[in-house]
Amino acid sequence: MRVIVCSNYDEMSKQAAKLVAGQVNLKPNCVLGLATGSTPIGLYNNLIQMSDAGDVDFSEVTTFNLDEYYPISKDNDQSYDYFMNKHLFSKVKMKNHYIPNGETSDPEKECTDYEKRIESEGGIDLQILGIGQNGHIGFNEPDINLNTVTHLTRLTESTIKANSRFFENINDVPTMALTMGIASILKSRKIILLASGRAKHKVVSELLNGEINTSIPASMLKVHPDVVLICDKEAYTSMYLGVDIGGTHIKFGVIDDENHVLYKDSIRTRKRGKAQIIMSEIGAACKEIIKKYPISGIGIGTPGIIDKKDNRVSAANLPFDNDPIVDYLKEYIDLPIYLDNDANCAALAECKAGVHEDDLLMITLGTGIGGGIILGGKIYSGKRGDAGEIGHMCIQSDGIRCSCGLVGCWEKYASVSALIEQINDAAQKNPDCIMAQIIKEENGAADGETVFKAMEKGCPVANEVFDKYLSYLATGINSVANIFRPETIVLAGGITAQGDILLKPLQKKLAANINVKISRLQNDAGIIGAALLAKLSQ
Ligand code: F6R
Repeated sequence: MRVIVCSNYDEMSKQAAKLVAGQVNLKPNCVLGLATGSTPIGLYNNLIQMSDAGDVDFSEVTTFNLDEYYPISKDNDQSYDYFMNKHLFSKVKMKNHYIPNGETSDPEKECTDYEKRIESEGGIDLQILGIGQNGHIGFNEPDINLNTVTHLTRLTESTIKANSRFFENINDVPTMALTMGIASILKSRKIILLASGRAKHKVVSELLNGEINTSIPASMLKVHPDVVLICDKEAYTSMYLGVDIGGTHIKFGVIDDENHVLYKDSIRTRKRGKAQIIMSEIGAACKEIIKKYPISGIGIGTPGIIDKKDNRVSAANLPFDNDPIVDYLKEYIDLPIYLDNDANCAALAECKAGVHEDDLLMITLGTGIGGGIILGGKIYSGKRGDAGEIGHMCIQSDGIRCSCGLVGCWEKYASVSALIEQINDAAQKNPDCIMAQIIKEENGAADGETVFKAMEKGCPVANEVFDKYLSYLATGINSVANIFRPETIVLAGGITAQGDILLKPLQKKLAANINVKISRLQNDAGIIGAALLAKLSQ
């Protein structure tokens, strides 16, 4: 199946009209198969314009429509007979047009005769199709026993609901129809399948990504050698779900093909319980999102160490202890699921949707220091999968002991937790300084912002603390930049909301050729990056 993706409905209609006109110009007495519904109206308008302009002559053309409600009178303004007259036949002169007769008292005979009539006209040269949200073409509804020739069929609830938009009341929608069968359609020499709008996205992606299956009747078109799907971006664009697992919150985000965040939400991370329980909660939340968005894949960013062999995760702040968390999630979700470290995901997000650099280092300043390395546009996590733990790079050989077992780790000096310790330390030593006063006013609890508040009020002790902190930060950045000289170093984390107050003095302490930027994506980097894992893996 060839696919043409157009920017919008008008473009899709023009493209389709060009192909139909090409067919008529090539064989003026050709047989066209036509569809009704909202999708082909733009195509018909274009054909009318082309005919009026003398660009194409339909006077020798014969048409067969796919289907008609049953029973229905031709004058009923919801009959497909009425529709075709209104949108095409009354405006373009053709040799002959046929539509299954919804007024017949013998539907079986009507179907047999219709099939014979198509054959006697030499078969259909070019068939136009729309697609139902449930994958139907014509009125061939999902059914294990797909009837293959023109037949009388019962409409499914979902089709009745979808078509009720054309009727005053859902109870007015006929429940039966006469329709060409799948085999009748497949006998056409060429087929154009049209799909437009967000409502068709799910079925289009199932059609393109799935197997031939009677639950999506349109998938039968895959056996035909000459089918072109012409659709607009809304129908084609894929969406991906990113899950960013954190110690306090689990964030969810949906991105589209252009990496725009369409939806965000979060749940609190359960502190107790097993990994399976956390993953079952994630599964339940994902299921709800999948109901609303046509998701093609899920990416998960998790803290901790991932054993790449079988995706087992161990994380200090979560009850993940060598747990196969993707396998747990697969019990709830039947979609491809991808996994990587959360800092790596954030780095990937910066690469593809933030600073747009192919070689970058992402440094996240928080409780610790997280690192994500992107080389040549791809996450670098080493063969074992745990590269990029730059927070545990040693900056002081006889320094503070770290929980990792080493001493002098960078995060013991330049993380936000380290900054808070430095603030408290200085306030204790200088109990009369402005910063110590601010801490008292805030019930004795300093946070990452305390130093900035104190500096704003002209506290020299705060200035000193901040300058020292920046020196620690710069020491690590200067060292790590020498290893692979990334195009950009991206800083993220709450403290970077200080912007230039942080960046300008930091830059002065860095080697001249180091380019540091503050993350634009910030808190969204995790979900965007996780979703990108899924997008780029497909
Ligand atoms: C109509 C037909 C149907 C429609 C389908 C999509 O003749 O055969 O299969 O093509 O229901 O309808 P719209 O275009 O209204 O979304």
